[in-house]
Formats: sequence, structure tokens, C-alpha cells
Amino acid sequence: MKQILRIEHMEKYYGNKNNITKAIADISFHVCKGEFVGIMGASGSGKTTLLNCISTIDTPSAGHIFLDDVDITEIKEKEIAKFRRENLGFIFQDFNLLDTLTIHENIAFALTINHIASEKIDKQVLSVAKQLGIESILNKFPYEVSGGQKQRCACARAIINSPKLLLADEPTGALDSRSSQMLLDILQSMNNELNATILMVTHDAFAASYTKRVLFLQDGHIFNEIIRGEKTRKQFFNEILDVLALLGGDLSNVR
Ligand SMILES: Nc1ncnc2c1ncn2[C@@H]1O[C@H](COP(=O)(O)OP(=O)(O)O)[C@@H](O)[C@H]1O
Ligand SMILES: [Mg+2]
Repeated sequence: MKQILRIEHMEKYYGNKNNITKAIADISFHVCKGEFVGIMGASGSGKTTLLNCISTIDTPSAGHIFLDDVDITEIKEKEIAKFRRENLGFIFQDFNLLDTLTIHENIAFALTINHIASEKIDKQVLSVAKQLGIESILNKFPYEVSGGQKQRCACARAIINSPKLLLADEPTGALDSRSSQMLLDILQSMNNELNATILMVTHDAFAASYTKRVLFLQDGHIFNEIIRGEKTRKQFFNEILDVLALLGGDLSNVR
């Protein structure tokens, strides 16, 4: 299968010579088109650093990150924002909807700043809104819709530009269990039905059990990797718990 993301010997250090933190110490892995991959690890294991480097928000200290064969560590500063807009989708923990824009305008936002013709934007918005079951609320404002509908709006916005990769850092971190499950169901259907490629950081074994493969980070290294395969979600969940137990530490206070 086609590799969308390829990380080669990536390292990331913070600080200076006298006081150095190795946030990522030599990580290599790849993600193929249509995969749904989870990244787990205790607080401080390097999850956010890894995601920020893939998001082009931060730059690695060494190594390379390829997105669809483009080395994103080599993209020029002034081209990064455009690259991010055109190639990546983000799901934020608090959904980040703009209160003064309608649901339609929120979803269309990325396309509007990409200067795409308005008829084309309307068509695309309607198409993703239908896929996510929110076509009837497009003219409402975020305060007029339910939490679940806001989630769907945030997901529609993240995939409107058909990103090569969808990134989510602890997307269920601030949600109660029912809302978490709704969001995970949406992510799973975007993966299964829209063939979206998703990389999700989570400390939550339940959330991770929705993915097809989980990478476990420890002290900036990949400690283990497990694949769901033909297992049921419940079986995969138990397997994830087993690896977390191996990883040790107090995972109840992970972020
Ligand atoms: N901007 C920064 N400056 C200095 N150290 C940092 C910075 N960001 C992260 N770190 C350190 O790098 C390590 C990994 O952090 P992070 O990627 O946030 O872990 P996680 O998301 O798994 O909790 C931690 O030791 C953290 O303190
Ligand atoms: Mg983090």
C-alpha cells in the first residue's frame, strides 16, 4: 500500500548543550494510505512533539519526515502555512469552531482562504456535511447546535480539503465518555468510508482501540507496536491494556 507518511530517524532536542531534553530520540515508522494509527505513551514520552513535527508546527533536530514523498523538514518557512492548509487536516481538543461564523462558514474556512470559487466551496461543504449528517444545520451558529453536531462540524472542517493526513492530539481528552464514543465513531467512519488516513495521539486505551494499529512511545523511542488485524475492538482494547501494563508507570495521570 502507498506510504503517505514516512519518518526516518527523527530526533528532537530541546534546550542547549548544558541542559538538553531529548524529546524524540531516533524514531522511524511509516503510515500507509487509509490507515488509522494511534500513538500512545505516558506524559512526557514525546507524543505531542512528534505530532507537532509532523504538523510542521515544530522542526526536528535531525532526521526526515516525508509526506507523500515531500520532505517536510525542507519546506521553506514562507511556504509552510500553505503546505499545511493544502495537505493536513487537524482535529483539536476543544474543536476550535469560530462562534461568529455559521456551521457552513466554519467548514468552508480552509477553502475560503485557499481562494477556491464559491460555487465549488458550497458543493464541497454540502457533500461532507451530508457524509457527516449535518446538512440540516449548515446555517446555524455553533451556539445553536449540540455538542455532537459541533464535533461533526469540526470533523467536516478537518476533511473538507481532502487532506493527505488527518492529525488529532488527544481529541477525546476533554470529552465525557458518551461524547468520546461519538467522536471515535466519526473518526472510524471517516477512515472506513472516506478512506481518510488518520494519526491520533491518545492516552486513552478505549480511544486507541478504535484504531487499526497502535505505536507506543517511551522516553522518545518506539517501545512497541500492535496491530488490530481481525481482532474485535474489545480484544484489541485488552491487548492495548496489556502493553500499557508492560510500559508501567502511573497511566492514570498521563496527558
Ligand atoms: N518547548 C519545549 N521546551 C523544552 N522541553 C520541551 C518542550 N516541549 C516538550 N518538551 C519536553 O519534551 C518531552 C516530551 O514532551 P511532549 O512531546 O509534550 O510529551 P507528551 O505529549 O507525550 O506528554 C518532555 O520531557 C517535555 O518536558
Ligand atoms: Mg502531549
